[in-house]
Amino acid sequence: MTPDALLAIERLDVAYGEIQVLWEVDLEIARGEVVALLGPNGAGKTTLLRAVAGLLRPRAGRIVWDGAPLDGVPASRVVARGLALVPEGRRLFAGMTVAENLTMGAYRRTDGRAAVSADLEWVFELFPELAARRRQQAGALSGGEQQMCAIGRGLMTKPRLLMLDELSLGLSPVAVDRIVAMLAAAHRTRGMAMLIVEQDVRMALELARRAYILETGRITRGDEARRLIDDPRVKKAYLGL
Ligand SMILES: Nc1ncnc2c1ncn2[C@@H]1O[C@H](COP(=O)(O)OP(=O)(O)OP(=O)(O)O)[C@@H](O)[C@H]1O
Ligand SMILES: [Mg+2]
Repeated sequence: MTPDALLAIERLDVAYGEIQVLWEVDLEIARGEVVALLGPNGAGKTTLLRAVAGLLRPRAGRIVWDGAPLDGVPASRVVARGLALVPEGRRLFAGMTVAENLTMGAYRRTDGRAAVSADLEWVFELFPELAARRRQQAGALSGGEQQMCAIGRGLMTKPRLLMLDELSLGLSPVAVDRIVAMLAAAHRTRGMAMLIVEQDVRMALELARRAYILETGRITRGDEARRLIDDPRVKKAYLGL
């Protein structure tokens, strides 16, 4: 384990009841680093994010956050420590407005109302589509706008690590490009680390410096993104080349 890792996952096993889904997973993220987690359907990618977010209790192994153990810390406290998960399927409060959804992200913050308002305006600058619809119900947004709102809500927690699960799901290539550009801009401004789970491998490897491949619950590869892009096996399995 690198001494100054922001997140270090060591030999993590996670099971649903009797069925083990993750096996001895090792994964590390440095401060401010953008990392992709790739792998086929059912490999356990969402499970890994949910375990890090404190939504699932690992069977074995360790999750170390900024030098301190994160295992057994409840999800609400995990957010307060600076980890945010933008879940698969977005999970917005459909009946609440865009502004209310975004403000919910700041619920656990203790740095004062002024800082939260400033961040809200920052999110609206980042996503002008949301600014124009701030009083509209989130359920009435387009798929792309809902994804922006979900990411915005994640950013409103003021994360040091933003975990994004399948952000491209169901979106047009144009919407994905736009959201990726906004994420890159947010990363340049705030410098938070990101863990990107994606089926759109090309996009993920564009954003990420490093990537891991998870297959049937085990990490089978971890490398620099540009080396993975050039790897014939990765090209064949994930890039359709
Ligand atoms: N709540 C649950 N109870 C039991 N088994 C589950 C549960 N959630 C997921 N699984 C199983 O765990 C395995 C990993 O699922 P997971 O959702 O983590 O995969 P994934 O890599 O995110 O897949 P996808 O790319 O389709 O989103 C699958 O076999 C799945 O059926
Ligand atoms: Mg998943």
